[in-house]
Amino acid sequence: MSARIAAALFMSHVPAIGVASDLGKTEEPYWKPLFDGMQPARDWIAANPPDVVILVYNDHGNAFSLQMIPTFALGMAPFYEPADEGWGPRPVPTVEGHPALSAHIAQSVIPAGFDLTLVNEMTVDHGLTVPLTMMFDKPDAWPCKVVPLAVNVVQHPTPSGRRCLELGKALRTAVETFDDDIIVQIWGTGGMSHQLQGARAGLINAEFDNRFMDDMINDPEVLAEVPPVEYLREAGSEGIELVMWLIARGSMSDLAGGGSPGEVHRLYHVPASNTAVGQLVLENGTVTA
Ligand code: DHB
Ligand code: FE
Repeated sequence: MSARIAAALFMSHVPAIGVASDLGKTEEPYWKPLFDGMQPARDWIAANPPDVVILVYNDHGNAFSLQMIPTFALGMAPFYEPADEGWGPRPVPTVEGHPALSAHIAQSVIPAGFDLTLVNEMTVDHGLTVPLTMMFDKPDAWPCKVVPLAVNVVQHPTPSGRRCLELGKALRTAVETFDDDIIVQIWGTGGMSHQLQGARAGLINAEFDNRFMDDMINDPEVLAEVPPVEYLREAGSEGIELVMWLIARGSMSDLAGGGSPGEVHRLYHVPASNTAVGQLVLENGTVTA
C-alpha cells in the first residue's frame, strides 16, 4: 500500500495567535471567539490524525534572508527547531521531519519539472509553528511528522498561482507513489487579507477573502489564473501569502479525475492582530457525483 492524501487544510498563521496560546490568553475576550471558532477543526483532526503533514508555509526572514531567496524550498531534515524571531524561540516542541518522504518528494517532483531547493538544515518560524498550534494546541510533542515546504512570498517576484497549483498536482503524484501505508495531509497556510505597513496598513477585504475560499473549494483551476498583483491590490501587500493555499489544493484528487472535496470546516474571523483569519478543512475525494 502506498501513502495517501486524506485531507487538505488551509489556514492563516498570524503570529499573535501563537503568542496568545503561549501566554495562556485564549480565554480572554479578544481571543476566545477565534479559539472557539477553531475548535471544530481541532476536534476533526483529533478524530482523523495524520501520520505526516506536508506543511506549505513561508519563512519571514528567519531561516532565510535577502541573501538567499529560494522560491520553493523543501525541508529534508529529521528535526527542525523553532526559530528565534527576535523574542527567543516560541516555547513549542521541536518539529520532527520525515526525511524518507522528503527524499521521495524530491525524486518525484524535480524530474517532473519543479526545481526545488533542498534544505538539509533549517529552523522554522511562526509561518509553520502557528498553524501547528492552531490545530494541536499545546502538546508535549507534536502528534505527527512534518515535511516543510517553504515558498517565497516575501520578495517579488513570487510564484504564480498556476505554478503553485501545478506543484500541488506533482506533490499528489509523489505522495501516492511513496511506498508506505501512511496518512498524509497537505496544509496550505498564510493569509488572509493583510497589509502590515504603508498607507493601507490594516486593510481587510472580507469580500475578497470569502470569494477566495469559495473558489478554493469549487473552482481552483480558475483561481490559479489570478495574477500575484491582484492579491496585492485586493488583499494587501501580505495577502500574497494566500497563493500558497493553491499548492495544497492542487494535491486534491478531484483535479485528477477523482471525487470532489468534502467540506468539514470553514471559519472566517476578524480581528486577529492586523490580519483576517481563514481556516478550511477539506477531506480529499469524499464527494462523488
Ligand atoms: C502579522 C501577520 C503575519 O502574517 C505576519 O507574518 C506577521 C504579522 C500580523 O497580523 O501582525
Ligand atoms: Fe506572514
